[in-house]
Amino acid sequence: MKGIVLAGGLGTRMYPLTKITNKHLLPVYNRPMIYYPLQTLVSAGIEDILLVTGGNNAGDFLRLLGNGNEFGLKHINYTYQEGEGGIAAALSLAEFFAEKDKICVILGDNIIEKTIRKAVEAFERQKEGAKIMIKEVPDPQRFGVPVLEGDKIVKIEEKPKVPKSKYAVTGIYMYDNTVFDIVKTLKPSGRGELEITDVNNAYIERGQLTWEILDGWWTDAGTFDSLLRASQLVAETGANKLG
Ligand code: DAU
Repeated sequence: MKGIVLAGGLGTRMYPLTKITNKHLLPVYNRPMIYYPLQTLVSAGIEDILLVTGGNNAGDFLRLLGNGNEFGLKHINYTYQEGEGGIAAALSLAEFFAEKDKICVILGDNIIEKTIRKAVEAFERQKEGAKIMIKEVPDPQRFGVPVLEGDKIVKIEEKPKVPKSKYAVTGIYMYDNTVFDIVKTLKPSGRGELEITDVNNAYIERGQLTWEILDGWWTDAGTFDSLLRASQLVAETGANKLG
């Protein structure tokens, strides 16, 4: 399976922190944010990785990460997203890289405590479709929220005012290579973006979406509060082998 870290977008929610640097280069405790999602893929056994960057200072990722030797990698692939067309728009840039393989996608601001190796291995065995990881959170209205009927996800709602479950869809997604055909059918949402939630809903309609509850803590780091929380969690317990 190939891995894709999505670290595009302009990070305008975090001005002025992101005025002169990229959100994913901001510190989370003792490492730049981008280290954590990268390590999540590596510790799941994924070594063929594409990093999608964007906005200002994209060249700094290359200076920081180089060929990924610090992560035990021989090479990292890079590509550039113009503007802020949405998570699914950033993902579409990975089509050339994925070729016919399955992919594991992680958002550049998602930080987790434990490994996703088991889920990745389970998806290797899944014939087709997609797998998402969900996590119980106190503030589901900030995220994609799964609507559950029994143990089936029947729909995902993006940032609903009244969430229908207490779970968030985390920014860790596994897809077969038909994902790129799905992305091509998407229309921009109310916020003018191609939404990853629409991609996941397309897999639900096909009856091909599986899910697991993520083990250990999970947080995004894309707001002032969640960035602070991420640093606190990493300082208290460490994350994904980054001590
Ligand atoms: O963190 C999980 C949540 O991420 C999910 O629950 C939501 O369903 C999903 O839509 C997303 O929500 P956010 O509104 O928090 O996403 P945000 O726009 O902050 O983008 C998260 C990351 O995705 C960002 O750190 C880099 C990448 N991204 C985002 C955009 C808009 C890109 O690579 N390109 C983009 O154009």
